[in-house]
Amino acid sequence: MKQFFQGKVICITGSSQGIGKTTAITLGGFGAKIILNGRNAEKLQSAYAEIKEMGIDCCQIVADVSIPEQCKLLIEEGIKHYSRLDVLINNAGIASHGLIEESDPSNWEKIVNINTMGTINTTFYALPYLKKTNGSVIIISSMAAKVGVPGHAGYSVSKMALTAYAKSLQIELENVIHCGLVYVGFTANENQKRILKPDGTYGELKERKGLKLSSREDVANQIAKVIEKRKKEITLTTLGKLQHIMLKLAPGIVYAMLRKSHKDYDKMYE
Ligand SMILES: NC(=O)c1ccc[n+]([C@@H]2O[C@H](COP(=O)([O-])OP(=O)(O)OC[C@H]3O[C@@H](n4cnc5c(N)ncnc54)[C@H](OP(=O)(O)O)[C@@H]3O)[C@@H](O)[C@H]2O)c1
Repeated sequence: MKQFFQGKVICITGSSQGIGKTTAITLGGFGAKIILNGRNAEKLQSAYAEIKEMGIDCCQIVADVSIPEQCKLLIEEGIKHYSRLDVLINNAGIASHGLIEESDPSNWEKIVNINTMGTINTTFYALPYLKKTNGSVIIISSMAAKVGVPGHAGYSVSKMALTAYAKSLQIELENVIHCGLVYVGFTANENQKRILKPDGTYGELKERKGLKLSSREDVANQIAKVIEKRKKEITLTTLGKLQHIMLKLAPGIVYAMLRKSHKDYDKMYE
């Protein structure tokens, strides 16, 4: 793994905390040069200082991936810094909840602009550089991309659309670049993780009790494998793998479980 990543330039969107930051530390630890990104300059500076202190070669670029011009700036500034790009990890994303009838159109726009368009636009500006290095585009998705999750339709829509995007890209640029889709399962969150509420404000994400959570380090190591082995897709966690199989063999069971969890929606977000 170390040899493969040595000297590779990797841009990770949303790497000031959470899975993105841990992935930066993991891949940087393997010798990659990391372009860090986030919207909040202070938070990004603190992650940058911490990662730099570990001896990792990195730079930081403040950019909001929901704004196309800022996706362009992120890639162009990254190229100015390192003169090449080997991997783009589209990780920046927000969680959301809200029933369909309660979610304002502006809310749908917010989540799709970050989770979906953020990935599509950053990839668009990165592709010319990735083609030169026969590089990789990684798309960080979720178990929620495989089913419509009641109470989280906005999030499901934003991630499910990325499956179609990745599958198309895998064929359009086959043998030119690699595109890997990572279906992440329930993962330990940072304390500062927020969730978009149906009223358009951000709230605290409640602790997920009774669930076996992946560690962020585990997720980062799996992302590294997807890049090195040029895998087209991977589903993480036992629950994620079980959901994947059940959707093929006995989808009714998955939908019965979703109905059950929907009954608890009010209790979860009261
Ligand atoms: N945690 C899980 O259980 C889980 C499960 C499945 C999938 N995922 C996916 O994994 C990815 C990371 O999740 P996480 O739990 O690590 O999230 P997180 O802790 O909330 O971190 C999100 C990161 O993205 C940045 N970000 C958010 N919006 C952005 C924007 N518009 N432009 C640029 N950066 C932005 C945030 O920094 P700023 O706020 O400063 O911009 C932060 O660095 C997401 O795509 C998520 O959907 C997570």
